[in-house]
Amino acid sequence: MSSTPIGIGLLGYGTVGSAVDRLLTARQADVERVVGAPVEVRRALVRNVNAPRSVEPRPGLLTDDFSAIRDDPSIAVVAEVMGGVSPTREWMLELFAAGKSVVTANKQLLARHGAELFAAAEANGVQLRFEASVCAAIPVVKVLRESMIASEVNAVLGIVNGTTNFMLTKMADGADYATVLAEAQRLGYAEADPTEDVTGGDAAAKVAILASIAFHTQVTIDDVPHEGIDTLDSVDVAFANDLGYSVKLIGQARRVEAGVVVGVAPTLVPHAHPLSGVNGSFNAVMLRGDAIREVTLVGPGAGGDETASAVIGDLMGVLGTSGTGFPRTAGVFRDLPLVPADDVESALYIRLDVKDEPGVLARIAAILADEAVSIDSVVQRASEGRAQLVIVTHTAPEGAARRAISSIEATGVCASRPVTLRVLAAS
Ligand SMILES: NC(=O)c1ccc[n+]([C@@H]2O[C@H](COP(=O)([O-])OP(=O)(O)OC[C@H]3O[C@@H](n4cnc5c(N)ncnc54)[C@H](OP(=O)(O)O)[C@@H]3O)[C@@H](O)[C@H]2O)c1
Repeated sequence: MSSTPIGIGLLGYGTVGSAVDRLLTARQADVERVVGAPVEVRRALVRNVNAPRSVEPRPGLLTDDFSAIRDDPSIAVVAEVMGGVSPTREWMLELFAAGKSVVTANKQLLARHGAELFAAAEANGVQLRFEASVCAAIPVVKVLRESMIASEVNAVLGIVNGTTNFMLTKMADGADYATVLAEAQRLGYAEADPTEDVTGGDAAAKVAILASIAFHTQVTIDDVPHEGIDTLDSVDVAFANDLGYSVKLIGQARRVEAGVVVGVAPTLVPHAHPLSGVNGSFNAVMLRGDAIREVTLVGPGAGGDETASAVIGDLMGVLGTSGTGFPRTAGVFRDLPLVPADDVESALYIRLDVKDEPGVLARIAAILADEAVSIDSVVQRASEGRAQLVIVTHTAPEGAARRAISSIEATGVCASRPVTLRVLAAS
């Protein structure tokens, strides 16, 4: 054991940064036992050193000068917990050039500039770790990168946004979208500007990172088609429930013969499926592969302490493996094509608002049959000359089902745009 403390720098001293400092101090003895030397946070970068803070930091800790961290030779590793893409990207590159390893909680930065950052870390012989960037306390990055190194994972799917899962859980109890959004904001689950969460952008960033590490091919946020829950009607959540499904915002990355399919969309999940019972702000990620069959990791996907716990795990990882290089990079060594979802098979939920007339259902069934899309179940609710027709299809190429839906619309039987949601297979 060495008695010379190892210095840590923090970029950011907000919710996550202050929690990293507090937990590292509270767990000092345990950390020292693992690392073999005391670890202390030397400096923390903020925008405003004089801003009032819920816990007063020790004198001299805060700085608004990035170079005070970059140029401090006693700081071995830096935790980037300030967020944003710029100047965060530029500063991270400067830290690598200065020989410092970095751990980050920043999914947006990695999902946009991961390739450049990992290459720069490698070129400078330092590490970039990112457990906290996906699902906070759930150690899915570690499991994919280390535990499943030889398992050939072929699908990663899950609930990777706690805000929308909280909202969908409430919508399943009958509340409408606007009411649950207001409640999520009041409870602090949703930001004042919830766009990233409710449009699926936050989940898409996490899917890009998970797909890259699961399949060793570079996937960026721009590669991930995403729909959110902002256009979801609680009527469809209720219909889905009657048919035996929960509606969840599912992020998916699947390895198919032709390459990789990625996406985020509100999806019907059978009640018996492990993801169906994941409620409230919890996240869950399911990994599938030939050797591992199925592993599901469930836990809190956000929160200051939860995220700090992952950041500290990565800090310990860097300190424990410095010099060994394991596993230093994102592990990208393939170049797999991205396959559009239209080319792969899935079952769909289709809700049609149609005229309640004889022969309508038969015509719709015939159009679906023309595209070789067969029907698994149908529910119809009629009132005042109209009918809500809900069809769940068997699996079929998604493009064929979407062509059939366009043909149904073209017949003029629909009073409004059909609603389509994906349905997850029971296993
Ligand atoms: N909170 C969560 O539950 C959670 C979960 C998973 C991942 N994350 C990620 O963790 C990161 C931090 O989140 P947070 O919730 O801790 O954010 P936060 O509370 O807003 O804290 C951000 C910190 O960074 C500092 N900062 C921001 N921009 C800066 C700049 N340009 N120059 C200097 N300092 C700057 C701020 O300084 P001031 O204090 O002076 O404002 C503040 O201390 C983000 O990437 C976020 O996506 C958060």
